Amino acid sequence: MNHLQASIPEGVAPVPPWSASSTILWTRDDGARNMRRRRLRPSTRRYGGVFVRSGPVEGPFIVVESAGMLVGRPGPIRPVTEDMVESAQGRTGRGDLVLSVATPDRYPVIEALSRSAPRREIFSPLTADLIAWFADRNPCGRGFVVTASDAGSGRLVGYFLFYPWLLSRRDTCASETHAFLFVHLYVAPESRRRGVFRAMTGFGLDLVEQLGVGMVYTIPNPRSTPGFLKFGHQHAGDLLFWIRPALPGWGWGRAGLGRVAGVQVERRRRFDAAWQPDPRRDLPESTLAWNPRHADLLDWRFVDRPEGDYEIRYLHRGRVVGYLVTRRMRIRGLRALVVCDMWLDGFDPDAFAAGLEDASRSGTRVDIAVAFGGSSAPGYRQALRHAGFVVCPSCLQPQPVSVIGCGVGDGPHRLGVPPVAAWHLTPMDWDVF
Ligand SMILES: CC(C)(COP(=O)(O)OP(=O)(O)OC[C@H]1O[C@@H](n2cnc3c(N)ncnc32)[C@H](O)[C@@H]1OP(=O)(O)O)[C@@H](O)C(=O)NCCC(=O)NCCS
Repeated sequence: MNHLQASIPEGVAPVPPWSASSTILWTRDDGARNMRRRRLRPSTRRYGGVFVRSGPVEGPFIVVESAGMLVGRPGPIRPVTEDMVESAQGRTGRGDLVLSVATPDRYPVIEALSRSAPRREIFSPLTADLIAWFADRNPCGRGFVVTASDAGSGRLVGYFLFYPWLLSRRDTCASETHAFLFVHLYVAPESRRRGVFRAMTGFGLDLVEQLGVGMVYTIPNPRSTPGFLKFGHQHAGDLLFWIRPALPGWGWGRAGLGRVAGVQVERRRRFDAAWQPDPRRDLPESTLAWNPRHADLLDWRFVDRPEGDYEIRYLHRGRVVGYLVTRRMRIRGLRALVVCDMWLDGFDPDAFAAGLEDASRSGTRVDIAVAFGGSSAPGYRQALRHAGFVVCPSCLQPQPVSVIGCGVGDGPHRLGVPPVAAWHLTPMDWDVF
């Protein structure tokens, strides 16, 4: 589909027929100031209240209204083609390895390698179904799994999964842009320390660059962190790790242990496009980046994910004011309730406490609640503190939760990695929980 999918608010003239070589920019007719601020090129043209600039894009842009201005949402990323794979293969410089991108018939082979890994190295195997969900059913477009096979025997010796995700940035032209996350990295023990991880990373980044995406990131474990740093990726910072033990007398702040007045909690099966979080309003100006929370992305992440079992709660104060997503897991033998994501109008602390209390009291017993992130969002941190969470000292953490990433390519698409102190991240934005 090469035309614009538009939902133009009243009073804004419709844009003309669209082409895949156009980029839409996102502002109402008050755009002169915005145009200066965003340093648009003179080639920018104005159609009604919408400014359009020529330039390469990967697909159609969907126009949505957010915080009183039009924002562009990039259409799904195009799939990796055989030409791209061949061209990247020509640059690997490895005669002993065949690097490629897995087709769906190879997913079970990857699953078999993953299942053969020691449990201490891979907590939860990468199944064929999980790969299909990440790579083929992703609303942001197609992902891919890089595979490394021994050139002599053809045996699979490693895999590394890349999937697209959306990022909103205050500090760049596009208000929403694609990034790639890379997760589920594994190299068979007998093939380690021979540069397989290095080769798969270089190959995957080559494809990301060919797709025109300017940034990648991950939240790796300490085994792969030194490698990423050696490859020149930046450490964007560590995410805060919060805990709330279910101990008698552990404080719940002002919320108390009773029902929180004026807040109703409702379990839902899916997300509701009728209520949209408003990050531009709820996050401070100092927050430069966050991952958008459109209902279709939330559904993909928390409803459609295989092996998920997430619990979705909508919070009401006469009308919807936010949602909370939790998941019950065993962490080091403890029955943990993980706060996977939450968004509340103004990070309303009482509404969050009400949702968390409901989640803690229903279902199986909980020994501890855990949460991550909030480094750049004071409201998120206050809501966690209000509900009795404290930051776990790093010496007591099972492992640091480090964010690592890099800009891709040398072209205009390349983006810097925001520091964690200016990036609102929660477990929604990577796949461990
Ligand atoms: C981590 C892992 C992927 C590394 O794969 P690999 O093919 O052996 O890594 P490479 O040979 O390409 O090493 C690249 C760089 O990573 C670092 N590195 C790799 N293994 C390392 C180790 N055991 N200790 C310290 N640094 C290591 C080194 O900096 C290395 O560069 P160098 O060899 O020039 O010093 C592999 O050990 C593995 O699959 N572990 C189990 C699964 C896992 O932990 N996955 C990570 C999930 S985020």
